Amino acid sequence: MYLGLDLGTSGVKALLIDAGQKIIGSGHASLDVSRPHPGWSEQNLTDWIRACETAIAELKASHPKELAAVKGIGLSGHMHGATLLDAGDQVLRPCILWNDTRSHAEAAALDADPRFRQLTGNIVFPGFTAPKLAWVKNNEPSVFAKVAKVLLPKDFLRLWLTGEHISEMSDSAGTSWLDVGKRRWSPELLAATSLDERQMPSLVEGTEKAGALRAELAASWGIASGTPVAGGAGDNAASACGMGTVGAGHAFVSLGTSGVLFAANASYLPNPASAVHTFCHALPNTWHQMGVILSATDSLNWLSEISGKKAGELTAELGDVLKAPSGVSFLPYLSGERTPHNDSAIRGSFTGLAHESGRAVLTQAVLEGVAFAFRDSLEALKTAGTILTRVTAIGGGSRSRYWLKAIATALQVPVDIPADGDFGAAFGAARLGLIAAIGADPLAVCTAPRTDATIEPDVPLGGAYADAYQRYRALYPAIKGAMA
Ligand code: XUL
Repeated sequence: MYLGLDLGTSGVKALLIDAGQKIIGSGHASLDVSRPHPGWSEQNLTDWIRACETAIAELKASHPKELAAVKGIGLSGHMHGATLLDAGDQVLRPCILWNDTRSHAEAAALDADPRFRQLTGNIVFPGFTAPKLAWVKNNEPSVFAKVAKVLLPKDFLRLWLTGEHISEMSDSAGTSWLDVGKRRWSPELLAATSLDERQMPSLVEGTEKAGALRAELAASWGIASGTPVAGGAGDNAASACGMGTVGAGHAFVSLGTSGVLFAANASYLPNPASAVHTFCHALPNTWHQMGVILSATDSLNWLSEISGKKAGELTAELGDVLKAPSGVSFLPYLSGERTPHNDSAIRGSFTGLAHESGRAVLTQAVLEGVAFAFRDSLEALKTAGTILTRVTAIGGGSRSRYWLKAIATALQVPVDIPADGDFGAAFGAARLGLIAAIGADPLAVCTAPRTDATIEPDVPLGGAYADAYQRYRALYPAIKGAMA
């Protein structure tokens, strides 16, 4: 048995697979995000540990024998978060998350230093880790002075699981401190934020062993002490391992809290000007590109909260048959946007509202707005040299057929739906746990699931969608001007 542990923004998932990669069982626990000021987004580290314990306890209650047979563990987690520890590994402040935009001024200042784009292959986005440390230095100097280790969220779980400070390439690529082409920390970039390599975890590949389960946890969960923990991956690279998105030409669209259009690459292809992210993959000698939109299902969840209807009820009101765009447009920039704008100050909008614009019209506009944001990412990937001819859909939002049809039509590429199963980040993490534990060939393990159905672009509505996308494109500069 192999265990995948995924620390998601909205909850922790523990997933058990057997040696043949069949899913045996899972446990889950929810997490909240706290937003104490506009643009801030934080989580308490003690909540992560509690959620992990709850998810494992659920798994232990349903599958005690199988849990006891675990031979390898893999980790995955939301990326970019700044987890700050003192010399005694005590937590110094809540984690500043990937969608927190408070450090926009610090990010712009670092991004203006050409060494960052040159060595990391990426824009220094406000959500990345380095500008967060620059913000802490400027605003919480007594905290900064005590920082002995900076860990990414899943690597904080590793510290709890194994007692070790270790990270891996895919997550570390999102810090703005990694030389992404050479797969090692850049002392130069660390120094530019008044840090050095001693404050960073050591690095392995996601497929390698990175610590062993502590005796105390092993005893309470009934797993063998010393069970190896794999390097694992940031959540997007982990999902890619789960989906078999590991070879050039393979791509997925992920409808989670954030939205990601992910493409695997056989080599390092940086293109920071396109606002595409170019990161190391979890497999050795492999990289990937992705367009990232900050509010995907988060946009629908926002509408759900203010309308008092569950997200599934909102999408059910639309039915399954795609409608022509209504003339109401939605920009999904609730926390600003990364690809293609790199604009943390922009905010979302509805335009074109009329007396007859009821709830269903707003839901339709939200789904279309997110679909057009993915089209922006598709265009950005094209600029960065990656042309996608089909994508596979994953994430909670992909349960809505309407949304997938809207995405296929906005992107003008077929969207594949994987055969029933759970091929997300926790599954990818479990696969990495298996690879590290037995030294398996990563490519033989990270295969693609069978396709259950393919959603083709809607041909009759293609023109109406193209027009609506042009209206969407024109709105960003107009709204930006209106907000200035
Ligand atoms: C990727 C990103 C998000 C988080 C959320 O760059 O910020 O996809 O990893 O889970």
